Amino acid sequence: MSNEGVDGNRRRFLTAATSVVGAGGTLAVIWPFLASLKPSAKAQALGAPVAADIAKIEEGQQVTFVWRGSSIWVLKRSKEMVDNLAKGASVLADPNSEISRQPDYCKNDHRSIKPEYLVMNGKCTHLGCSPKLRPDHPDPAIDPNWLGGYFCPCHGSKYDLAGRVYSGQPAPKNMEVPPHRYASDTLVIIGEDQKA
Ligand code: FES
Repeated sequence: MSNEGVDGNRRRFLTAATSVVGAGGTLAVIWPFLASLKPSAKAQALGAPVAADIAKIEEGQQVTFVWRGSSIWVLKRSKEMVDNLAKGASVLADPNSEISRQPDYCKNDHRSIKPEYLVMNGKCTHLGCSPKLRPDHPDPAIDPNWLGGYFCPCHGSKYDLAGRVYSGQPAPKNMEVPPHRYASDTLVIIGEDQKA
């Protein structure tokens, strides 16, 4: 066996051993962290519903909450923003959200329970980048017919202000809407379904 072969085998062994130690090290760090949390905080870290206080969100503003490790956006849309959703439907890939993921109670033009509030997982459906909120319009740099929405900087996918993707984009579907319900006018529970 040549020295090169021995070195190659040794390098592969060390790489594998390092990976195992690395994974073990990560678990060793995560486990004490979870064990140290109080029951409610631990449940939240593992994916329990999250209460989102939306009382202070202003029109046109978006706030991020974290649920199951994902950024969940709550956007408060103005009346103009909601009205524009109907105007742009003809240029969308899935305007009625037939192939996209959202609870049945959000399968509507505004993809939400209340027209003014959009609750959405902030992840591009192409490769998972985080699209930017671009409510400004018109914006010829993005699209001459742009009515405001989300623009993914990674590969240029465009969405409207309901997270519905434009036709011909790398992203195949509308952004996901997670289960959620209103506990009151100003409190949204992300991760629990709205009852019929
Ligand atoms: S990840 Fe958004 S367009 Fe590719």
